[in-house]
Amino acid sequence: MTTIPAGDRGDVHVRQAVQADLLAVLRIERASFDQPWPFSAFERYLGEPGFLVATDGGPDGYVTEDQSSESVLGYVVANLVPNHGQPFGHVKDIAVHPDYRGEGVGRKLLERALRVLEIHGAQSVKLEVRASNERALSLYRDFGFEYLRTVPRYYDDDEDALILVVDLDAE
Ligand SMILES: CC(C)(COP(=O)(O)OP(=O)(O)OC[C@H]1O[C@@H](n2cnc3c(N)ncnc32)[C@H](O)[C@@H]1OP(=O)(O)O)[C@@H](O)C(=O)NCCC(=O)NCCS
Repeated sequence: MTTIPAGDRGDVHVRQAVQADLLAVLRIERASFDQPWPFSAFERYLGEPGFLVATDGGPDGYVTEDQSSESVLGYVVANLVPNHGQPFGHVKDIAVHPDYRGEGVGRKLLERALRVLEIHGAQSVKLEVRASNERALSLYRDFGFEYLRTVPRYYDDDEDALILVVDLDAE
């Protein structure tokens, strides 16, 4: 299992997601999105180095024998997309439990995900975000993401998606 060294923030720990995290992840997903991913979508990304959870306990970066005492505060799903020998990263999903937003958990997850993607060879990372999602847009801008283009009516409710991209070399 891939493990990533610790970040520096208080009692929030980030590690790769495991099967036992999935119900908590699904609960956060359902609390966060009108069209949530199904359980099977998360299951598919288990083992992906960019599927990370933030928890309130346990040694940072490492999966312990027993995670039953930890609470999942949020998660990010990111992967590498092959691209003519020059893979790019894709942040596919990120959410923090509503009770823990605004405390730096999302920032920590995104920071770690970008680092994982870079370690695995991504030179740039892209994502889609609802045009109205100011909180997420603000987070992404802080990490250097820039507007690339708009996909009209990308979401089921016809809202446009903004495609954002960051060049990791420029970070
Ligand atoms: C977007 C989300 C993941 C951010 O996670 P978070 O833990 O709340 O964010 P953080 O506390 O780490 O804040 C990071 C940055 O996000 C932005 N942000 C956070 N809360 C904000 C708010 N209430 N209003 C505007 N921007 C905000 C700021 O840029 C902030 O940086 P700052 O603290 O230096 O100002 C979280 O709000 C969430 O789960 N939203 C619902 C799901 C979602 O929309 N996911 C994104 C899909 S593209």
